[in-house]
Amino acid sequence: MRILSGIQPSGDFHLGNYFGMIAQMVAAQEKGEVFAFIANYHAMTSVFDGAKLRSQTIEAARAFLSLGIDCDRSIFWLQSAIPEVLELYWVLSQQTPIGLLERAHSFKDKTARGLAASHGLFSYPVLMAADILLYDSDVVPVGKDQIQHVEIARDIAVKFNNEFGADLLKLPTFSVPESVAVVPGLDGAKMSKSYKNTIEIFLDRKALEKKVKQIVTQPVALEEPKEWRGDFVYDLCALFLDEDGKAALQKRYEKGGEGHGRFKAYLTDLIWDFFAPARAKYADLTDEKVLAILELGAAKARKIAAEKMRLIRSKVGII
Ligand code: ADP
Ligand code: TRP
Repeated sequence: MRILSGIQPSGDFHLGNYFGMIAQMVAAQEKGEVFAFIANYHAMTSVFDGAKLRSQTIEAARAFLSLGIDCDRSIFWLQSAIPEVLELYWVLSQQTPIGLLERAHSFKDKTARGLAASHGLFSYPVLMAADILLYDSDVVPVGKDQIQHVEIARDIAVKFNNEFGADLLKLPTFSVPESVAVVPGLDGAKMSKSYKNTIEIFLDRKALEKKVKQIVTQPVALEEPKEWRGDFVYDLCALFLDEDGKAALQKRYEKGGEGHGRFKAYLTDLIWDFFAPARAKYADLTDEKVLAILELGAAKARKIAAEKMRLIRSKVGII
């Protein structure tokens, strides 16, 4: 089984990125062939500063590797190292009805928030379809907000296969772990860079404490019992706890006698301890090491991409 996903280097990774996508990809290494990449072409739709895009791209790769992508077992590369993906994007564009893209929530959300409605932003799902279909992916692990994009890739593949030959492109499915489908941010809305409500993974201890303190809570007197259902501090703690850990924390909420400050301190410790091994790896990875790993991964990905594209070219009549 081939499991593929990508992430944009459009800012520092946060808990939503980790539990929504990165953790799934790391765990998938036990189940099948993992293909993971940094979607730097996609990031061009929102990052318009070359130096910034370059440094964020290397940072994103460093973070992904530190969090557990194993480049010996998995293929890990930079989207822009594989020119075939842009070629397939053009080929697929011919099989993409405008209406399909007009229904994309992500495009509507981003333009509503003020991003210019460029052709690149509009056709973003077609490039994503090329990412997925070029490598015959079976499963695409993503957060909830990306489900529609995987469905669009599927629709485009069906249309292409109808035109040029059944089974030419493999139809992908998505996977979203229900328990963490949406990680809440500081204000309880979906954690997202765009909402400025994120808790980044690689903060130093002081900055982490400061962030966690900003989580919105209901004012309840210290000695009173507290409701854990719908409490954002509880929800975030739960991401790091097993069933026993969750039950114990629920008891502490229900018992009263502890304020939210204590629960926030507990959350800070959970985050800090959980990511300690990743922090150590992160500190150890130089830019040179990261670039060398990406290059090795790109060579493996390119072989598969080139072969697939040769077949597609022959079917669509491109010499
Ligand atoms: P952001 O919303 O911060 O810009 P991205 O859109 O770059 O994040 O998301 C990268 C990956 O992380 C996607 O697979 C997305 O579904 C997942 N993801 C992002 N935020 C969350 C969240 N709050 N909960 C679950 N998954 C998330
Ligand atoms: N659009 C995805 C996101 O914002 C990133 C991405 C690009 C992707 N290409 C992909 C995810 C292919 C899965 C498969 O998170």
